Amino acid sequence: MTRIIDGKATAAEIRREVATGVAELRDRHGVQAHLALLLVGDDPASHVYVRNKGKACDEVGMRSTIVRHAADVSANVVLDQVRAWNADPSVHGILVQLPLPRHIDEEQVLLTIDPDKDVDGFHPMNAGRLMIGADGFVPCTPAGIIELLKRYEIPTSGKHAVVIGRSNIVGKPISMLLAQKRPQGNATVTMCHTGTTDLATHTRQADIIIAAVGVAKLITADHVKEGVVVIDVGMNRETLEDGTSKLCGDVDFAAVSPKAAAITPVPGGVGPMTIAMLLNNTLLAARRSAQ
Ligand code: GUN
Repeated sequence: MTRIIDGKATAAEIRREVATGVAELRDRHGVQAHLALLLVGDDPASHVYVRNKGKACDEVGMRSTIVRHAADVSANVVLDQVRAWNADPSVHGILVQLPLPRHIDEEQVLLTIDPDKDVDGFHPMNAGRLMIGADGFVPCTPAGIIELLKRYEIPTSGKHAVVIGRSNIVGKPISMLLAQKRPQGNATVTMCHTGTTDLATHTRQADIIIAAVGVAKLITADHVKEGVVVIDVGMNRETLEDGTSKLCGDVDFAAVSPKAAAITPVPGGVGPMTIAMLLNNTLLAARRSAQ
C-alpha cells in the first residue's frame, strides 16, 4: 500500500500549533510575533505569494506588515527599509520576496537582513549555521520536508537519500539536513544535478528521493526501486491536450506511486508546508527575542 503524504493536512496541523504558540507568547511574555514582508515590482505570482503569507499570519494571530514598492524603486530605499526593520524590536521576522528587479543586488539585500530575523534562512550566516549543525533558521521548504518525514515517521538513519537539484533554497540545505547526525538525518546522501550522467543509476539506488529540479515529470517508474519514499518539490505547469494547463511535480506521480512506499502529491504535498514553516520560523524568532 502506498502512503500518500498529505502536506495540506500536516501544514494545517502546524498552523494550529503555531497559533497556540503565538497566543502563549503574547499571554505569558507580552510579545506579539510579527513578520515584516517587502515586495518590489509587479510580478503577479510574487504578489499572490506575499498576500498569502500575510493572510497566513492573520490566521495564526501573528502581526504582519507588508511594504510594497514599484519596480523602479532605488536599492537604497530597499536597504533602508531592511535596516529599519533590523533596528525595530517589534519586528521578529523579515522576508524580502524574491526575485528582485535586476538593478537591485539580491545578495546585498539578503546580507543586510539581521541573521536572527532571517526567517527565510537565506542569509549566508544561516546557511553556514545549517552546514555546521548550529541553531539558526532553516529555509522553509527543506524544513517542511524534514517535518513531513518526522510526522510520517519515515526512517532516514542509514538510508540512502538521493537529492536531485543543488539550489541554495532546497537541494543544498536538504542534503545537509539529511546527512546531519540527528533525528530525520544520519542518511547517506547523494546530490544529483544537471551535471550528473545517468541520473537513473543513482535514483534506482535510493531509499528516499527528494526531487527539486523544476522539470515536469522527470522521474518516471524506471528511475525508482520498489518501496522508495518520494518527496516531490517540483511545481511545474503542464500543458494538456485541450490547451489548458495543470500543476505537476518533478515526478510522474501516476507512474511512480504504485512502486512507492510513500509519496507526496503535487499539489498538496511539499507546497503547503512552506508557508507553515515560515510561520514556525517567525514564532521561533519571536520566542528567541523574548528570552
Ligand atoms: N520567492 C519564491 N519563493 C520564495 C521564498 O520562499 N522566499 C522569498 N523571500 N522569496 C521567494
